[in-house]
Amino acid sequence: MLSLNVKTSKPYNVLIGAGLLDSVAKEISILKKPGKCIIVSDDIVWALYGEKVKADLENAGYNVCEFVFANGENSKNMETVLSILECCFENQLTRSDFAIALGGGIVGDITGFASSIYLRGIDFIQIPTTLLSAIDSSVGGKTGVNCSYGKNLIGAFHQPIKVICDTNTFSTLPYDIYTAGICEALKYGVIRDAALFDEIASMEFDIEKTVYRCIEIKAEIVEKDEFDHGERQLLNFGHTLAHSIEALSDFEISHGHAVGLGMLLISKACESKNLCAKGVSDKIKKALEDYNIEYNNKFSAKELCFAALNDKKRKGDSITLVIPEYMGKCSLYKIKISELEEFITAG
Ligand code: GLY
Repeated sequence: MLSLNVKTSKPYNVLIGAGLLDSVAKEISILKKPGKCIIVSDDIVWALYGEKVKADLENAGYNVCEFVFANGENSKNMETVLSILECCFENQLTRSDFAIALGGGIVGDITGFASSIYLRGIDFIQIPTTLLSAIDSSVGGKTGVNCSYGKNLIGAFHQPIKVICDTNTFSTLPYDIYTAGICEALKYGVIRDAALFDEIASMEFDIEKTVYRCIEIKAEIVEKDEFDHGERQLLNFGHTLAHSIEALSDFEISHGHAVGLGMLLISKACESKNLCAKGVSDKIKKALEDYNIEYNNKFSAKELCFAALNDKKRKGDSITLVIPEYMGKCSLYKIKISELEEFITAG
């Protein structure tokens, strides 16, 4: 088992290991005395692990209720948040009680947001069950839901009090959900650690150590810029175009795979503009190909620019892109919205 501490305004510990779901109550009891808690999960994850985690907590003396919603992006809205809050009220959770997010990124984001507003904020614990949520959304405290104006536009910063990542849960992931996480893992390699990129690209890596290293990189960045005013934007490498790709595909292309393609497109554009060392885009393309991730882009530069205009990172008439300089180093690069189409076309 590996352990690291995230030193944000409210510091917390992340545990990574095979079989940690067997000792959830033991880990939680270090922080929270037996009392009430709500487990929030989706129907797929609940069917796999829900009763086991609930029984473990009940055996340790916790009074547990659950809220289970339909798996998928369509549930990531205020209606689900209100239903979670109602469940908390019905079960009379108080400010000393807590919530547990058991699932992937959608579960984590919704639970974190509901926890941030219930009684003006209660503690919550992340138990990520996908590779993507383990290395990205479960750490860093970004919580929120979608609305008709766009993805994740309603939310709050609310750090979990603990993250418990059982790497065994990845074995039940469908291959495309696993590779969505691989794309985010490759992202950490491009922004901070060329050796990490090569290890993941080789397809032979130690999952615990890799998850640890990805979270370590994320923690380092988040600790310097918890509320996303500058350096944290580095974590959005590949994301500006990914948001467009997801929307243009009617969300047929998952977030992780869109990040993979977004990284490839922006790297190609940066190489042709001599902003990036040659060869980065080829390495990304080869890794996507080896993992059987679609890397052909069907959308025009004009179409890709469209969703970027709604991006939360847009400030006035400019947008900050994350650009690779070489493998292992990315930087922020501000351009005018009017220049974005030409920039992408350069690739
Ligand atoms: N997923 C990007 C961030 O947490 O800032």
